[in-house]
Amino acid sequence: MKKEQMPLVQALFQYIEEGIVRHHMPGHKGGQGFCQEILTNLAQMDVTEIPGMDDLHNAKGAIDRAQRLAAKAFGSHHSWFLVNGSTSGIHAMILAACPPGSSLIVPRNCHKSVINAMIMGDVSPIYILPQYDMERGLATQITPAAVKQALESNPDARGVLLVSPNYYGMCADVEEIAHIVHKKDKVLLVDEAHGAHFPFNLKLPSSAGELGADLWVHSAHKTLPSFTQTAYLHLKGQRINKDRVSQILSIGQTSSPSYIFMASLDWARYFMCTQGQDLLSRLIDKLMEVRELLKIDPGINSPIRSIWPEVPALDPTRLVIDFKELGLTGYQAEKILRQEEGIQMEMSDHRYGIFICTVADTQSQLEKIVQACQSLGKNHRKEGNDPFTLSVSREIPKQMMSPRQAFYSKRGKIPLIESQGRISASTIGAYPPGIPRYCPGEQIAKEGIEELLLIQRGGGNLFGVQEDSYVDVVIE
Ligand SMILES: Cc1ncc(COP(=O)(O)O)c(C=O)c1O
Repeated sequence: MKKEQMPLVQALFQYIEEGIVRHHMPGHKGGQGFCQEILTNLAQMDVTEIPGMDDLHNAKGAIDRAQRLAAKAFGSHHSWFLVNGSTSGIHAMILAACPPGSSLIVPRNCHKSVINAMIMGDVSPIYILPQYDMERGLATQITPAAVKQALESNPDARGVLLVSPNYYGMCADVEEIAHIVHKKDKVLLVDEAHGAHFPFNLKLPSSAGELGADLWVHSAHKTLPSFTQTAYLHLKGQRINKDRVSQILSIGQTSSPSYIFMASLDWARYFMCTQGQDLLSRLIDKLMEVRELLKIDPGINSPIRSIWPEVPALDPTRLVIDFKELGLTGYQAEKILRQEEGIQMEMSDHRYGIFICTVADTQSQLEKIVQACQSLGKNHRKEGNDPFTLSVSREIPKQMMSPRQAFYSKRGKIPLIESQGRISASTIGAYPPGIPRYCPGEQIAKEGIEELLLIQRGGGNLFGVQEDSYVDVVIE
């Protein structure tokens, strides 16, 4: 095989040859979470809607039976297989729940798919701010009180969308929020993309479905042994029309869904139902040990503990490591760990590194985190260095027009550095984790520009910023 003529194939084979320890998605960890029979038959399993294989968009046979088993496992009344990630589920949740011209209460730090759904469906966002822990530099969660206040100030809103858990494993008080939302006769949508494993072990936070969500999504590929792009959308109760959700999914998803993807969703459900409880218990215990061992080296902390009232539950499988006391940013630590220790984390920010740990990790792969971080501490400590203090604006930018109006207005490109006072025509932010700083229709302010440039200088990637410096703005 002439890999040098296939740049992507070449890059992937190089990654495989390097033997990097994968503490990132997908949750199957290089196939470790699959059975051999599936792995050796993957190409044979790649079929289309021939007789006997059912049709995702009109499921009556094998796909229907697989989705029903998923519904039972995840505690829903109906579950859909998604082949375009939680992104497609979030689009469907919003488009099914919110008619054009309506509004929805959403956290400011929602995933960009939420804003994109609003552009498609002409829905206006009503933003609420999550609490922010200044000392630790972390956005935590939305409080029930903030939801209550937003509902009282916006009686016409269709409902509330929550992101729980967030990237750092912090869950909102979904139960209390569901109670508040339903008392006002509104709907609760939950982006539980990072919590697909929750229903399979009692030591994990309860899943949104158990706590009162009407619709919720799971990225199977993030924390379960399932292929990238695979996700589930779940519905419970009567507040949202099931057929409407199916129709919307049929608009957004391909008419040729991958049978490999759908089979891996079926496998992930089966695997978690049969082995999830034991494997998750082992994983949780091992990660407790890892956290204890990390503490021995001064400066390496795993700061996520039950200390925030707005965070009633934490995902113990999400390992977050703080590199600040080593004098390193998360970005720098990520690079060093990859180059010198052969370990790849899921994502880093100005301060933290996030490791996605799943039932497919071996004990020695988890132990490797401790050894790698200890070497990092020994060889790269820059004591007293505070390389990167992030200023996070607590202001919700001024919304000058709806995301849809901004997206479809006349637009032009200008340097980010000169964009103060202009209306953003696209979504601008840092990736990962894909949280927008400016959404279409919002006025760009000096603090936001500074914040984005600081992240960029610290090694973070910006989205919505072209050629490293230009942004789209509305031209009246
Ligand atoms: C909170 C959150 N929601 C939704 C998504 C989108 O999920 P997917 O990649 O499965 O489309 C992500 C992706 O990282 C996410 O972090």
